[in-house]
This record gives sequence, C-alpha cells and structure tokens, in this order.
Amino acid sequence: MKTSILYENDLSAAVSLLKKGEAVIFPTETVYGLGASLLNPSAIQRIYQIKGRPNDNPLIAHAASIEQALLLAKEPPPLFFRLAERFWPGPLTLVVERHPLIPAAVSAGHPTLAIRIPSHPIAQKLIALFGSPLAAPSANLSGKPSPTNLADALEDLDGRVEAAIDGGPCAVGIESTVLSLFHPIPTILRPGSITQSMLEEALQMKIALASRSEKTLSPGMKYRHYAPKAKLRLVKSEAELRSSFILSASSIEGSRFLDARNFYSLLREADRLGIAEIDILCDERLTSDAALMNRLLRAAGQL
Ligand code: TXA
Ligand code: MG
Repeated sequence: MKTSILYENDLSAAVSLLKKGEAVIFPTETVYGLGASLLNPSAIQRIYQIKGRPNDNPLIAHAASIEQALLLAKEPPPLFFRLAERFWPGPLTLVVERHPLIPAAVSAGHPTLAIRIPSHPIAQKLIALFGSPLAAPSANLSGKPSPTNLADALEDLDGRVEAAIDGGPCAVGIESTVLSLFHPIPTILRPGSITQSMLEEALQMKIALASRSEKTLSPGMKYRHYAPKAKLRLVKSEAELRSSFILSASSIEGSRFLDARNFYSLLREADRLGIAEIDILCDERLTSDAALMNRLLRAAGQL
C-alpha cells in the first residue's frame, strides 16, 4: 500500500477513507494521531493491527464539539462540564463512563471511555467534516516514541495506512493529560501539559495522581513506552555527562536543547544516528516539568 500525503485542503479525501473504515494519520496539538471511525468496530480493529497495539489498551475518542462528546458518555458528572468548558478544545482527556451504544472495542472492553476535543485546526475540521468522533491513539508503532511531525509518523507507519495529513510540527509535543472522573476523587492517570495545579484551580478541589501500583487503571501505562533503541542515562550534574548525544534544558556546550516539543523527535534522531546511549541532564529546569519528567523516566524504563 502506498500512503498518500494530504494537506489541509484535501480533507474530503481523508473523510472518504474514514467512511470506508480506513485509518488516517492526522495532526493534533499534542502528537500525531492514527484516527478511524469510533462507531465502526472493524475500523477500531484496523488501528490495533496497524500499530501492533496490545488489545487490552483502550483508545481515546476525539470529538469536534462538547455536544458530540456528550453523546459518548453515560451521565457525565458535573465536573465533566466544568473541565470541558475550561480546557476544551485542548490537551485534556477525560475518562468517564462509556455510553452503552458506543462499541466496547474502543475502550478494550472497559466500562469507561477516554474523550478529548483536540484544538489543532486540521483535527477539528477533519472530525467536523466526518461528522462523527474518531478513535485515535498516537500514530507510532506500539512502544515507540510518539510522532510530533509527519516524517516521524511515517517513519513507523508509511505503507501501513492509506493516507497521512501533514499539519506541521505539533505545538505541545507530549500526549494529553488523562484525568479519570470515574474514580471517586478525580485522578490523573497520565500527566501532560495541563497540570495538576491547573486542574485543581479549575475544580477548586484537590485531585489525585495515580500511583505506580495503580498502573492497570490506565492500561497503557503498564507497557514500556516512548522507548528509543538507545539507552537513556539521566544524570544530575554536568560532570557525569559522557555521551556524544546530550540533551539538556539549559544551554550546555555540545548539548541539544530539550523541551516537551522536541523530546520525542530527539529520541528518534538518536536512533537514526545509531547512538547507543543518550545522556540527559536532569537539572531544576527539567525536573520542574512533571509531564516531561514522566515521559523521560518512562523512556528510561524507570517508571
Ligand atoms: O494527546 C493524546 O492524547 C494523543 C493524541 C493523538 O490525541 N493520543 C494518545 O493516545 O496519546 P494513546 O492511545 O497513545 O494513549 C492513550 C492513553 C493510554 O495510556 C491509555 O491506556 C489511556 O490513554 N486510556 C485510554 N482509554 C482509557 C480508559 N478508558 N481508562 C483509562 N485509561 C485510558
Ligand atoms: Mg501512544
């Protein structure tokens, strides 16, 4: 199969493919997604097959509007509306009870469904034109770093999907914050650029952070993720640096500048260069970014 590259003015071609039950790569503000019709169980199966994704790891539903999102949830709690109004469209995913008419395959049989409204204009237009929500994991092979530009998505999936829409580099660069409203106390299952304090401020209450022992609550978190072939060494001081491939959030001579936007593409670059070991200087600038630290530790196999 040859993957066609589409642009913002070709969205009707992408919609035709989605209507046939095909999966299409599309940009979001966080990372590129691999989208297919949420309401078509065989399209959902295609996503799992294309990515080589374990079939117990549920997908996120992407909607174009709050009205569309509401059709996916069974009696969403009042907190849902407060967060939706405050943070959507944007990089927040809310886990709520799934509406009984939504195929269970989307959430790998769980009674819940993860939902978000992406803010990237191409994602918004695509879902609105399709007229129905898309199920969309990140557009990488299972276990690899998420793609934050089209070339990185194609590195994994070229020839495995009918089409990919180019929307340039992703503005956020790491995946959405996943917040469960299914728990008695709202619980962050995956940290992201919408932080715990932003959520607490919006809700005017304390929320929880899923502990490691609760990994199975967000099934994706139990798999090794975001992992390059290179080994990641997280070091605290410049004196400990020894690799030729150094990532740092401060400007250190000979290092590559690291932030949430370019983390995944740097991991892919290291693999293309055949680097065996990546050194990351974990200074205050980096450790203060909870979401990026979460991905770093996971890519290093330490979380
Ligand atoms: O930013 C994002 O969220 C990107 C873009 C494409 O929207 N998507 C993304 O999807 O990161 P994916 O499939 O790579 O990660 C989804 C995460 C996994 O950790 C999965 O276990 C969790 O969300 N998840 C999905 N549905 C869930 C549910 N019903 N309950 C708990 N966790 C869920
Ligand atoms: Mg992913």
